[in-house]
Amino acid sequence: MLSLSHIFLFLLVNISVVEVLGVDKFSRDDFPPDFVFGSGTSAYQVEGAANEDGRGPSIWDSFSHSGKMHGDDGDIACDQYHKYKDDVQLMVDTGLEAYRFSISWSRLIPNGRGPVNPKGLQYYNNLINELSSNGIQPHVTLHHSDFPQALEDKYGGWLSREMVKDFTAYADVCFRNFGDRVLHWTTMNEANIFVKAGYESGFLPPEHCSPPSGTNCSRGNSSTEPYLATHHILLAHASVARLYKEKYQDQQHGFIGIDLFAFWFLPLTNKTEDVIAARRAMDFQIGWYADPLVYGDYPDVMKKYLGSRLPAFTNFESNLVKGSFDFLALNYYGMLYIKDDSSKLNMEVRDLDADMAIGLTAIQNDISVNKFSIEPWGLQELLEYFKQAYGNPPIYIHENGKRSLHNSSLEDEPRVNYLHGHIGALLNALRNGSNTRGYFQWSFLDLFELLGGYESSYGLYYIDMDDPDLKRQPKLSAHWYSHFLKTKGVSSDGFIKLEKNLTSFSHAHFSQ
Ligand SMILES: *[C@@H]1O[C@H](CO)[C@@H](O)[C@H](O)[C@H]1NC(C)=O
Ligand SMILES: *[C@@H]1O[C@H](CO)[C@@H](O)[C@H](O)[C@H]1NC(C)=O
Ligand SMILES: *[C@@H]1O[C@H](CO)[C@@H](O)[C@H](O)[C@H]1NC(C)=O
Ligand SMILES: *[C@@H]1O[C@H](CO)[C@@H](O)[C@H](O)[C@H]1NC(C)=O
Ligand SMILES: *[C@@H]1O[C@H](CO)[C@@H](O)[C@H](O)[C@H]1NC(C)=O
Ligand SMILES: *[C@@H]1O[C@H](CO)[C@@H](O)[C@H](O)[C@H]1NC(C)=O
Repeated sequence: MLSLSHIFLFLLVNISVVEVLGVDKFSRDDFPPDFVFGSGTSAYQVEGAANEDGRGPSIWDSFSHSGKMHGDDGDIACDQYHKYKDDVQLMVDTGLEAYRFSISWSRLIPNGRGPVNPKGLQYYNNLINELSSNGIQPHVTLHHSDFPQALEDKYGGWLSREMVKDFTAYADVCFRNFGDRVLHWTTMNEANIFVKAGYESGFLPPEHCSPPSGTNCSRGNSSTEPYLATHHILLAHASVARLYKEKYQDQQHGFIGIDLFAFWFLPLTNKTEDVIAARRAMDFQIGWYADPLVYGDYPDVMKKYLGSRLPAFTNFESNLVKGSFDFLALNYYGMLYIKDDSSKLNMEVRDLDADMAIGLTAIQNDISVNKFSIEPWGLQELLEYFKQAYGNPPIYIHENGKRSLHNSSLEDEPRVNYLHGHIGALLNALRNGSNTRGYFQWSFLDLFELLGGYESSYGLYYIDMDDPDLKRQPKLSAHWYSHFLKTKGVSSDGFIKLEKNLTSFSHAHFSQ
């Protein structure tokens, strides 16, 4: 069965592909000065200190403690809660211009609603001050998969409209306390994948699903809940954006947006039905959120295929959601070839996957013939799509990176190739008019991956999770990114080219 979440799993399998570099030579100076380059993490994945200083559990604590991540959890993770000063120094050494991180809702408001935890407030103030005083822009996400367990228990989390009020109250605490220093706010990370993995296949928290989509869940309805949760997420996002715009933006001068996961989908063949299927897949993946945000309603194809399973916006809600963003953010890792499979529309019980009516066989074949692809030009196509389908809104690439196994090898040349190719493709897109404003490599550190725990690695810095000091060690990719970033101000003959001999760079500069 094809589903985005299964596709995502495929993505994690190391597949050898030919990587075509976008632009071969470029430097930081080829990008506009106010374009921002950074790297990212999220709260549960790096902070640790899960049971310290009054933090309440999130749905991710419950999930990982139930053994579902083969025993891995975020109790300690990279211990950034205690090591944030060293990490900010490492960011300075690397040359990062911005750091993307998330706030743990249940560290700030342990029960999801009610009193604010002063120690939580202190921690985020400290981190933000440390970044600001070192000239690194904080880009903050409010919800990175880890909402408070208390709200799941109380009313079923995103399945309830009550979430709109509680999420808005939480955001208010963040804007009031941190908004003088934080200018970039993202309400939700990867909203579209969060609902797919959490409410359709149910293999990630909050683990809602129903057969045949998923069989391991104690509750759920895969035919309806992904759509219901999305509806509430859009309303909550819009409510938070309105709060920011009405109460804070005039004084704080910041920006607010939402983040989506985005594959670039290509038709497997030039047959009309496959071309339409690829476009439909984009409507289900991106249009599901972007159409309401830009145009005020769900895509027509979703309304037609889903009927009453798709919640409807009232006029009031539609107006609230439409235009409720200053930027859209995308997590981009690769592209996929899509084949039509309209026979899925005849299934008795349909989930999001069946509703998309795209083919599985094609995907499996794709993988065996390496058509599942991380060639960088997919990023350029995706940005061109946003330009044409959504009027070229301001965009941030919030995640882009390459997986490897988590091991002590610091020579991650495939990751360097990947980053070089994708930053080059981004430059091509900018030169062709894309309104992209920033790029965040994923991830700054080797961290607790939400797929793969500590077996997976995307980091610029390696951490041996058995090392009591959790020492950060630069990989080749850290040197490469740092070299790229630090040529800011260097003349055009200071081009960065990926040289096979980059490994000869001194590691000494980075050793802590
Ligand atoms: C269901 O749970 C079993 C046992 O934990 C596991 O082996 C299987 O992969 C799970 N299936 C899905 C679809 O998550
Ligand atoms: C899911 O909800 C739909 C619509 O309310 C209903 O027809 C269907 O029986 C439900 N499925 C499950 C597994 O509860
Ligand atoms: C589809 O048509 C274009 C233009 O003719 C061609 O470049 C491309 O290779 C074709 N794709 C496939 C999968 O046949
Ligand atoms: C360690 O990771 C590198 C990529 O960083 C990979 O090429 C290598 O195969 C891995 N080694 C082991 C033993 O898993
Ligand atoms: C460049 O932009 C134009 C106008 O949007 C578009 O027609 C063209 O396909 C774009 N080129 C690439 C390579 O994306
Ligand atoms: C690395 O490659 C560059 C360009 O080919 C060359 O100028 C330089 O001498 C090489 N450095 C080492 C240490 O081999």
